[in-house]
Amino acid sequence: MKLYLASGNAHKVQEFQALADASSLAIEIVSAKSVGGMPMVIEDAGTFIGNATKKARALKAILPADAWVLADDSGLCVDALDGAPGVESAYYAGPQGDSAANLAKLVRTMRDVPSEKRTAHFICVLVLIDGEGQERVFEGRCDGHLLSEPRGGTGFGYDPLFVPDGQEKSLAEIDEALKNQLSHRGRAWKCYTRWRSVCS
Ligand code: IMP
Repeated sequence: MKLYLASGNAHKVQEFQALADASSLAIEIVSAKSVGGMPMVIEDAGTFIGNATKKARALKAILPADAWVLADDSGLCVDALDGAPGVESAYYAGPQGDSAANLAKLVRTMRDVPSEKRTAHFICVLVLIDGEGQERVFEGRCDGHLLSEPRGGTGFGYDPLFVPDGQEKSLAEIDEALKNQLSHRGRAWKCYTRWRSVCS
């Protein structure tokens, strides 16, 4: 089946396709780009679920009525910053959404924070709208800590600064299969596949 992803982020499309391929469900992740691009959505709901719901509904509105849509909203919550950047993760360094600038700002902001206070977690909320318009929510979380300097060349966003609990490498140093197993997105996807296997 086709699952339309409410995102134009090529990394996310690739991660969701890898997650789908690793599950036993035959799912083709279709980028919003292939249907003319993701409609403009202002991510101002203030919560991951609110923003993901806005994105899912915006894409659903331009697709055939029976299309299945998946939207995710995700971000990094840093304990020493009272949960920031959180829902603002994509725009931490400004409205242009420059991920290199976001990463550099986080490195600077955390410069004097000692290692025992560098705990953080990623959150991913998935909103699925099925062919009948029913909405369902799945959530995943990945706990870890922040390095003082970015490490590694794969992944995206804050990956080079984040080490998941139980690992020594950053998310930008580990291979994609392991990232998908550990990540907030991978865990949220697992909730979705569990629901699918019970309900189909
Ligand atoms: P979204 O596309 O509105 O969900 O923005 C989420 C933002 O959070 C991204 O732009 C990244 O900055 C950050 N983010 C979310 N998931 C990840 C991840 O898996 N690795 C690194 N950064 C992430």
